[in-house]
Amino acid sequence: MTACLLETRTVSRNFGALAAVSDVEFRLEVGARHALIGPNGAGKTTFINLLTGVLRPTQGRVMLKGRDVTDIPEAQRVKLGIARTFQINRLFRGLTVLENVYIAVSERLGIALDMFRPAGARRDVIEEAMHLIAALKLEDDTGRRVSELPYGRQRLVEIAIALGLKPEVLLLDEPAAGVPSAESHIILDAIGSLSEQIGVLIIEHDMDVVFRFAERITVMVGGRIFAEGTPKEIAADPEIRAVYLGQAYHG
Ligand SMILES: Nc1ncnc2c1ncn2[C@@H]1O[C@H](COP(=O)(O)OP(=O)(O)O)[C@@H](O)[C@H]1O
Ligand SMILES: [Mg+2]
Repeated sequence: MTACLLETRTVSRNFGALAAVSDVEFRLEVGARHALIGPNGAGKTTFINLLTGVLRPTQGRVMLKGRDVTDIPEAQRVKLGIARTFQINRLFRGLTVLENVYIAVSERLGIALDMFRPAGARRDVIEEAMHLIAALKLEDDTGRRVSELPYGRQRLVEIAIALGLKPEVLLLDEPAAGVPSAESHIILDAIGSLSEQIGVLIIEHDMDVVFRFAERITVMVGGRIFAEGTPKEIAADPEIRAVYLGQAYHG
């Protein structure tokens, strides 16, 4: 049996009368390649927000490596190993790619940000940042401001930042959303080549991507887990095909 990294126990989240997430029992294994799919409004982003601590559950517990983190705020969960990217990107747009990644690595190391002056910059931090930039094939953009980059490259910077936190869990909420297909493969290649030490949970609409990447798929509908299994099991389930996959997946 593989070890469980992140787990929810009957987690629910209501927004007023709306049950956005209901009674979700979920496990992300160490080194997982796991996809969360489902129609718009299914509760996927809300669920990720419960995992990261952006939102508190109305009911239920969130466990990280066997530890109850339900009451631990987002910033501290990051320190415990949970990193994420957002459906809508959040970057320091006026700063360069290197500066953005530098800041993420500094945060992880607890280095005060007033160190960030060319003269005060730490060589080890720069080296690590450059290594991440290279891993995401962003070398040519190192010194460019994020605001000058095409959207697809901005999303790569986001992933570099998330990796700069040296996470054990990486949560990706539609990392290729809004990215032209010519560029989206760079993002997906980068995700595909992540270290096996990192458990990855990705929300993704493109079924080709999901079925290429995932070893396990959870289907969410109306805030509940509708089905879970291997890609083969999910693709073979006529109910899922009818309810969700539709014409999107020709397996
Ligand atoms: N902050 C919020 N306040 C009120 N309703 C919300 C909030 N966030 C999400 N919702 C609602 O919860 C449901 C699930 O949304 P979401 O988790 O974003 O779904 P998905 O990511 O699967 O598209 C939707 O009906 C959405 O309108
Ligand atoms: Mg969403």
